Amino acid sequence: MPRILLTGGAGYIGSHTYVALKAAGYDVTILDNFDNADRGVIDRLARLTGEAVDLVEGSVLDRQVLDDLLGAKTYDGAVHFAAKKAVGESVAKPLDYFQYNIGGLITLTQAMRDAGVFRIVFSSTATVYGEPEVFPLTEDLPLSYTSPYAFTKLTSEQILAQAAQADPWIVGVLRYFNPVGAHPSGLIGEDPMGIPDNLMPFIAKVAMGEMEKLRVFGDDYDTPDGTAWRDYIHVMDLARAHVQSLDALMKGRAHTLNIGTGNPVSVLQMHAAYQAAVGRDLPYEIAPRRAGDVPKLYADPSRARAELGFEAEHGLEEMCESSWNWVQAQKRGWGFNS
Ligand code: WQD
Repeated sequence: MPRILLTGGAGYIGSHTYVALKAAGYDVTILDNFDNADRGVIDRLARLTGEAVDLVEGSVLDRQVLDDLLGAKTYDGAVHFAAKKAVGESVAKPLDYFQYNIGGLITLTQAMRDAGVFRIVFSSTATVYGEPEVFPLTEDLPLSYTSPYAFTKLTSEQILAQAAQADPWIVGVLRYFNPVGAHPSGLIGEDPMGIPDNLMPFIAKVAMGEMEKLRVFGDDYDTPDGTAWRDYIHVMDLARAHVQSLDALMKGRAHTLNIGTGNPVSVLQMHAAYQAAVGRDLPYEIAPRRAGDVPKLYADPSRARAELGFEAEHGLEEMCESSWNWVQAQKRGWGFNS
């Protein structure tokens, strides 16, 4: 079966994609420097898949590591997750984001080119649509950026498009909306270091009693309940989208796709759904809007359906239940060396 390199494969979306690729019969190698992932994930991935994980510890910025890795086995493609992804941090440290996210992509693709490996799935984001005014979002909308993080993703997309003019790259760009939830086993999930930026991990901390209350950033948006809309997609659906993206690349079919559900959900709707999963009230307060937030982001998912046959299957209830199951499992531990 084809062998795929997963950069950042020990991370949140990477680990779920690892499980989905193995289930689809792919051979997979994970490259990760564990600067934003817990090493315990590797044992839990082995438990989930029933076999040892082929792991290389290192950074996509390290050309020698990449040359050694790509020289040791024959690869058919890569999924490039390894990147810094905190919008607020990117505003404070833009140069670090440019170096890691753009420099990492360039180092990876140079090493892949020199090894004759030209299939790549790139982890992009809906924030390349800037502050859209037309909804739902289609892939042909104008692109812009509202943070250094979004700049690195937009620039990376354009680097790949231009590289494909010179070499036989077959590129799958997946623009994620808001990934949430966890694998139903409770063995892998979102494991943010420190205080979470994102909504669901924050609500989970409130549910676990680790944070006092959720602050809802603004209730004066032009939505039915006044709170901002996002397109939350279950990470298991997102992982499956990567398998279908690679399947398409293996047939020579490049694509740039929004990966979302098409169903906008407000902050208060997410809060209510999580509260229902937990079975008790979770305190919140209305706070001022967060700088940089856009009022609405939700996908028109029709091109992913047409080009990959992809459709999200898991609803809001499963997103919340799987997250709640995961954070409780994390607290209990898994009863083996993890
Ligand atoms: C969602 C909604 C907040 C926390 C970012 C990146 C995106 C991707 C996902 C990397 C917003 C509100 C949040 C809280 C709140 N990251 N919120 N209280 O900002 O849509 O997207 O993370 O790939 O690229 O841009 O996600 O989860 O931070 O916020 O009210 O404590 O929840 O205002 O409306 P966001 P988020």
